[in-house]
Amino acid sequence: MDNIQLEKGFDEKLSKNLNIEPKDWMPDNYRKHLIRQISQHAHSEIVGMLPEGNWITRAPSLRAKMVLMAKVQDEGGHGLYLYTAAESLNISREELLDQLHTGKAKYSSIFNYPTLTWADIGAVGWLVDGAAIMNQVMLQRTSYGPYARAMVRICKEESFHQRQGYEIMCKMAGGTKEQKEMAQDALNRWWWPSLMMFGPPDAESPNTENAIKWKIKRESNDQLRQRFVNQTVPQAEIIGLKVPDKNLKWNEAKQGYDFGEPDWKEFKNVISGNGHCNKERLEARVKAHEEGRWVREAAMAFAEKQNEKVAA
Ligand code: 3HC
Repeated sequence: MDNIQLEKGFDEKLSKNLNIEPKDWMPDNYRKHLIRQISQHAHSEIVGMLPEGNWITRAPSLRAKMVLMAKVQDEGGHGLYLYTAAESLNISREELLDQLHTGKAKYSSIFNYPTLTWADIGAVGWLVDGAAIMNQVMLQRTSYGPYARAMVRICKEESFHQRQGYEIMCKMAGGTKEQKEMAQDALNRWWWPSLMMFGPPDAESPNTENAIKWKIKRESNDQLRQRFVNQTVPQAEIIGLKVPDKNLKWNEAKQGYDFGEPDWKEFKNVISGNGHCNKERLEARVKAHEEGRWVREAAMAFAEKQNEKVAA
């Protein structure tokens, strides 16, 4: 079959909403686009373990500690599914991790902000995992099969994470005056970076056009950001917190909120490696990778021995 026929078969599958699978023919740019997005997503999961991981020893109760540990472990598992999905596109795990460790690959901007108080752990679960789910529900229907299937499981776990965070915020907002102030302060600091998680405005998003054409993304950055605002503002109101946006206003005609513009200069700065914690996060990742080397080597040696036994 020539390339024109192969491309026709690919387009036909997309038009019927059938998944593209690893052994199917796919345009080179589709493969590259997916490797970029899935690996950035995988990196976000494992870098995302860091700001929360450093609160495990300081969680205010045994229950809170257990829940947070489970959540951080889940994120590691999400990284695993996503790296595996990316590998099915013909790129090795080593190469992907090398791109992260050398600063060539991006990961979500949100993880370059510090978690200063326990209320931040609530805000991260509520807002960051909340924004992640808003984005990821549509990815369960993304056109690449291994990515779509990984997202089904990830979404189930993310929704537990969102509730874990909201529960912390509810408790703190309903607690002492100081606790309520901590909750409000965390919301003030995490609100705008959470809106930035959805990416730049549609008009300035170079990847959206192809992503929608190839059914990788089903909705645009601005559509998802709007839905997140619509869902989250009433959740803040119910627990007596105020979203830090003076332009926030219900718009009856569009049945949604009008809201202010995130600081896109700050966003660009963070994704170019100059946020509060970029340097610290990468150093922590590289250190964890180096310190885990003996585990990888031992696992490989064990697997080789097992293979020898099977072959004998
Ligand atoms: N942080 C870092 N980089 C971002 C970004 C963000 N919040 N938003 C956009 N960018 C980058 C893009 O990667 C792209 O860079 P590149 O071309 O060099 O790769 C550039 O900014 C332009 O953005 P586009 O809108 O054109 O890019 P996309 O169409 O890829 O949209 C996206 C960005 C919405 C993040 C999309 O890639 C996506 O849906 N990715 C999958 C979901 C994901 O990665 N989520 C991470 C969230 S955190 C998480 O899930 C962990 C959980 O435990 C909380």
